[in-house]
Amino acid sequence: MPAKPGPPHFATRLVQWQRQHGRHDLPWQVRDAYVVWLSEIMLQQTQVAVVADYFARFIARFPTVQALAAAPPDAVLAAWSGLGYYQRARNLHRCAQIVVERFGGMFPQTARELATLPGIGPSTAAAIAAFCFDERAAILDGNVQRVLCRTHGISDPIPSAATTRKLWALAHSLLPEAVDMAAYTQGLMDLGATVCKPRQPLCMQCPFAADCHARLSGDPQRLPVRKPSRGARPQRSTVMLWLRSVPGEQIWLEKRPPHGIWPGLWSLPQFETLEQATVHAAQCGRMVSQRALPAFRHVFTHFELTVHPLLIDLDAPQQAAERQGQWLSIAQAVQLGLPAPVRNLLLQNMTTAPADAPPIPHQG
Ligand code: ADE
Repeated sequence: MPAKPGPPHFATRLVQWQRQHGRHDLPWQVRDAYVVWLSEIMLQQTQVAVVADYFARFIARFPTVQALAAAPPDAVLAAWSGLGYYQRARNLHRCAQIVVERFGGMFPQTARELATLPGIGPSTAAAIAAFCFDERAAILDGNVQRVLCRTHGISDPIPSAATTRKLWALAHSLLPEAVDMAAYTQGLMDLGATVCKPRQPLCMQCPFAADCHARLSGDPQRLPVRKPSRGARPQRSTVMLWLRSVPGEQIWLEKRPPHGIWPGLWSLPQFETLEQATVHAAQCGRMVSQRALPAFRHVFTHFELTVHPLLIDLDAPQQAAERQGQWLSIAQAVQLGLPAPVRNLLLQNMTTAPADAPPIPHQG
């Protein structure tokens, strides 16, 4: 086995590669901590192609940290809705408020201080500090873990606290003394995203191909070694009631509680059974038609939810006494912060005619 690609050659090769083959036209490649912070939070758990549109809309809507801090929470959730992991949006808002209130609207300039802010972990803090303030700070997101495990032949399983410690130590030891920190950090990200991919890595395009342990082993995909997962996610199901008023085509939306799934977003009311949903609908007006729409699955971190949408048209609808919500046109509804699957459901079925409804099995 050849020697592991160590400092300083690791950094030099990576920066050279980044300059020639890396990404240079991402909209957040600017030295502005607000812009970089926002993009890094969006890019946690979400890919560049998905983030790009959200990022552009978000920056247009909240061009400064002051604008974001001053915005109502609903407006922030609405701009975030669809990106998922809504705790990130709440932390984002709190972080903006802290930056304005405690730091006079200027982000702190060191990774250590950045990491004290809500939603900014050590790797995100290091990325912001490296991109904006040239700090010699190490990043270690999932892509970088994969690159380091492969190049350095680390076969300890991830995720594990011991392997994470080992990888942080390695990431620090590889930091360059005197190269462009932004190019180095971007190089690690670019290599992980575009070459050292989880499946079918493009080893022939890699600056470390000659001495990468994973490639030389003949099976680069073998690394990193994943701990066996603890089995399939638990399954849950729900009936989602889409109440639609006729005439007028308004829909009934309710604001979800601040905790649990889709916290604080506007959504269709949910019930455990079809019967509960229809009983509720009957209390809200005269039922004209009902139709079961195709069920779909939504994957959360800790479970999978099968959603059974039930579309019911009501004549002369009213508000059920014990429920908080509002009747809205679809155009108004899609302006709100809606969970992505609910938004998709509404948009895909906007023109659904009640007449072609298959019968609903009668319950109870
Ligand atoms: N993933 C995380 N941060 C990123 C960045 N700045 N550019 C591209 N992908 C990223």
